[in-house]
Amino acid sequence: MALLSLLHYPDPRLHKIAAPVKQVDDSIRKLIDDMAETMYAAPGIGLAATQVNVHQRIIIVDTSENNDRLQVFINPEILSSAGEAEREEGCLSVPGIYDRILRPDAITVRALDREGNSFTLDAQGLLATCIQHEMDHLVGKVFVEYLSQLKQNRIKTKMRKRSRTAG
Ligand code: NI
Repeated sequence: MALLSLLHYPDPRLHKIAAPVKQVDDSIRKLIDDMAETMYAAPGIGLAATQVNVHQRIIIVDTSENNDRLQVFINPEILSSAGEAEREEGCLSVPGIYDRILRPDAITVRALDREGNSFTLDAQGLLATCIQHEMDHLVGKVFVEYLSQLKQNRIKTKMRKRSRTAG
């Protein structure tokens, strides 16, 4: 496995639209393994392929206490959603920034697993938030884009300063 480098907001590559995975093969499974290693090392609870500059519809999440329940979603689709919940979100592509985002509280999602088998999952709470956050990445959306323009500008300035000092 290998650690992958993460794109950081406001990198324009975070706004690319990911293409559907045509075939779930060993190269996809290798990418998923590398994404998992990268996510756990960060540490984070979710990662989209977009964030490692691979523009294919793949997300992984692990919202378990002990980081031992990796969930993989290839070509995910939200079939239905219900309720509303506001939760604090953060993103490995926007380090150090957290804010409250309003989203549906429960979703039904359909996707392929790492073997290419289709499954449907009912998710709610933190897991539902996390899946929606990661799916947004696949359509080029970063969570800070739900915030006011003023906040977005402040975050961009902060991120640019940070990348200058990081070299
Ligand atoms: Ni994110």
